[in-house]
This record gives sequence, structure tokens and C-alpha cells, in this order.
Amino acid sequence: MKNNFLVGIDIGTKKVCTLIGQVKAEDESDELEIIGYGIAESRGIRKGVIVDMLGTVEDIRKSVKEAELTAGVEIESAYVNISGSHVQSINAKGSINITGRNREITREDVDRAITHGSSIMLPNDKDILHVLTQEFIVDSQEGIKNPIGMIGSNLEVYIHIVTAAMTATKNLLICLKKAKIDVIKMVLSHIATAESVLTQDEKELGVALIDIGGGTTDLAVYEKGALSYSSTIGVGGDNFTNDLAIGTRTPIEKAEKIKRKYGCGMDPNWKNQNIEIPSVGGKKRRLISVALLSDILKPRAEEIFEMVKNRIESEGLENAINAGIVITGGSSVLDGLIEIADDIFSAPVRIGRPQNFGGLIDKVNTPDFSTSTGLLKYALLDMKDRGVIKNQPPGFFHKIKKQLGF
Ligand SMILES: Nc1ncnc2c1ncn2[C@@H]1O[C@H](COP(=O)(O)OP(=O)(O)OP(=O)(O)O)[C@@H](O)[C@H]1O
Ligand SMILES: [Mg+2]
Repeated sequence: MKNNFLVGIDIGTKKVCTLIGQVKAEDESDELEIIGYGIAESRGIRKGVIVDMLGTVEDIRKSVKEAELTAGVEIESAYVNISGSHVQSINAKGSINITGRNREITREDVDRAITHGSSIMLPNDKDILHVLTQEFIVDSQEGIKNPIGMIGSNLEVYIHIVTAAMTATKNLLICLKKAKIDVIKMVLSHIATAESVLTQDEKELGVALIDIGGGTTDLAVYEKGALSYSSTIGVGGDNFTNDLAIGTRTPIEKAEKIKRKYGCGMDPNWKNQNIEIPSVGGKKRRLISVALLSDILKPRAEEIFEMVKNRIESEGLENAINAGIVITGGSSVLDGLIEIADDIFSAPVRIGRPQNFGGLIDKVNTPDFSTSTGLLKYALLDMKDRGVIKNQPPGFFHKIKKQLGF
């Protein structure tokens, strides 16, 4: 990449998706246009973790090539997601004194407070992925979002630290290097996904984001506008398919098709219907009732949501999610899932889809593209943060686009 474009690569259990984005015209609220996309089947990931490096390298290359072709550009670097049950998050607090009377708090003070909070004893086998600020306290006054310019003698900061297993981050870097892509930043999948599907209001009010993919279910809780909890459960859409294949003794491919068509079999239109299915090992075709799907898939969906609920409760966050639950990921469209989530959480539940994109968004506007589109949003924010792209009033963007050679 010549730094002209934003690139996100979502390396999932089922697919590797590369998206190329471009900053849009200044007078439109949707700043990001998708100009290229490439989707390859993912063959080297299990439960979010690389188990076949060569396979993953090939899949990355394939999706990158396709994205380059659709966009008509070459890319060299990208924002890449990381997930898996090795990812851990810790809440910590930093505190510093502001020396000098009536002195305004500076960016350096903020950095010092964050450094103080993040200087935790980290096991040797862990890497820090993110250090996120939640809120600042200036001389006991809580709830401050940005203390720069304020007067105070003591600055405290609540931070959220996300760590990942070093072997996982190293393997991911090696794969991308072999695929000839420089990693600008490794982003926790949950954070990328949240950028794409959550509204600022939801983050402020408190929301639980559940991304049910193929091999994993990612849970993130936001409160007061910041991430306060994240974890990954090694269960996802593949489990639904496998349960169905075993429960109905039909091949995996057929089970996948039935799952996508009939979902949990709870739609009254399907209720009394029978489905003809092939048996494994070339035995005779049989008829199964749609009601059987409900018996097989509903308990699995309930199990996933119960696990999520337990995690929310064990963190004491059940009263923090005032805006309810947002479910996304490829499996979120499983028919009947929303009703099951409604019953378990007794909170508003909605499906999260990529929001506020232009360009080729109609190719990637389903919940299985929440993470890849979110990586582009994250990239834009990160670049603004680092001053590569500045937050400016209207009229600015065409200038920067020119400078960057868009
Ligand atoms: N219409 C549908 N009904 C039910 N499930 C579906 C449907 N369409 C896709 N899925 C499921 O979505 C899953 C893939 O989701 P997604 O693309 O989000 O996974 P991924 O990001 O590659 O995996 P992960 O995030 O777990 O690493 C598959 O298990 C697939 O069966
Ligand atoms: Mg995913």
C-alpha cells in the first residue's frame, strides 16, 4: 500500500475477507467508500487460531489478489484482526500528580497517566494489543472524557488492556509477511466489529455485542462509550451444522443447506413440513420433520447465549447493558435466533449490520462482513489519530485526498 487506501483483512474461521476503502467526499456523512473486496474460503483457522500456516497464507493471498483486482490498485499493508480464547482483557488504573500550580493538563500528562496504568506485570508469553482509555478523573471529578486543557493537581485514568498470546500474534505476522502484507496494526476482532455495527448511543448507554461466526462467538461489552469487557467462546455456526449433521445423520454440506434455509425450524410456515434428506454413506433418502431442527438447533443457540449471559453476569455487567444486545456475524441470520436471544436476555435484541459505508457496500452489507468493514472504520480513526488523515471541517478532504494521491 502506498498509504493511499485503507485496507482491512478479516481472517476468520470460514472466510478471509480483504476490503479496500477510500475516504469519501467531505460533504457526506459516510466518509468511507468500499472500492475493492476479496473473499476466500478460510482453511487454516480453528476457533479463531491459525492451525495451518501455509493454508492461511494461500487464503490471504487469494483474498488480497481479488480485492486488488476489483479495486484496480496494489496493496502492501493492512489492518488485520485477531481473536481467540487466548485474548484476555484487564481493567487497570493509572494515577499521576500534576506538578506546578494552575497548570493545564497536557497530552504528555495524559500519556504519563496511561503509561502508569499500563505498567502491569505481563506474563512473558503475552503481547499487549490495545491500551484503551475508559474515563479520566481530575482531582476526584469523575466521568471526564478528555482532560487536556483542564486545571488539576491529580490525574487518574481508567484503562482497558487487551492482551494476546505471543505465539498467536507471531504466527499471524508470519502469515501476513509470507503473503507480502505489512501489518499496520493488529486489531481485536471485537473492536473492529463494534466500529462497524454499534452506534455511539449504544456504546454510551451500555451494550453487549455478540459476533457469532463460524468457529467462535466474540462477546464485547461497551459502557460509557468505551470497551469494558471482551472475550471469545470457541463455539459458532459450525457447531449448528455439525449438530444437525449428527442429529439427522446427513452429510455436512446438506446440513449446512438445511440450516441456512430452515434455521431453527421455528417459523410457523414450516411447522408441519417434512424435508427429504440424503443419508451418510449413500444410504436411502429419508424424510425428517422441520420440528426436529428446532429440537436440535434451539438447545445449541440457548447454550451459546447462556454462556454469554454467564460471562456478563460474572463480570457484574448485567445492569450495564441498557441499550440491549446486538448480534452479528454470519450466524446471526440463523432463523429463530433473535427470538431465542430475546427469551434468554429479556432485553432489546437487534441484528448488527455494517452501517454508513458507500461504494461497493452492497457486496458486503451482511452481518458476516461486520468485522472486515469495521477494520476499515478502525483504520480511518487510527489514521486520524496519528495525524495521517486529519479531522477537519468541510473542504479539507479533497485536499488531503489530493496530497495522498487519491
Ligand atoms: N443464512 C444463514 N443461516 C444460518 N447460518 C448462516 C447463514 N449464512 C451463513 N451462516 C453461518 O455463518 C458462519 C460464518 O460466519 P462468518 O462469516 O461471520 O464466520 P468467520 O468470521 O469466518 O468465523 P469466525 O468469526 O468464527 O472466525 C457459518 O457457520 C455459516 O454456516
Ligand atoms: Mg468472524
